[in-house]
Amino acid sequence: MMRLVLFAVLLVAAFVDLPPSAARAQEAAHPGRAIVLSKCFQCHTDAMFRDQRQDRRAWEATIYRMIGRGALWTPEEIKLMADYLGAEYDQAAKPAPR
Ligand code: HEC
Repeated sequence: MMRLVLFAVLLVAAFVDLPPSAARAQEAAHPGRAIVLSKCFQCHTDAMFRDQRQDRRAWEATIYRMIGRGALWTPEEIKLMADYLGAEYDQAAKPAPR
């Protein structure tokens, strides 16, 4: 009986989480997001930068600082990552929920 209840709870939880919020869908649509996720996490998690709020130029500077630390990226990747970070982590944005 307990197992059945647990199963039902898990099932409901799975479905409640299913429809992605509009905000999440929008984030996923930004082409720079996937690049940030795949590139920045090569050396550290987003804990290193998710609470930072700065404009696009400053993010670009951050990206070049990472290149100084050994990252290897194409100009196109740098542009897309700066676009995404500058839009998603600008001064107006609220810190990410934990
Ligand atoms: C080649 C490895 C590497 C990659 C890739 C990398 N970082 Fe870093 N990052 C580091 C190192 C090393 C530090 C310093 C860690 C420490 O101080 O403990 C750091 C620190 C930081 C810091 C805090 C210190 C500072 O200089 O501002 C931020 C913000 C940051 N990284 C953002 C990013 C972002 C955004 C990306 C993706 C565009 C990224 N990192 C990708 C190596 C990397």
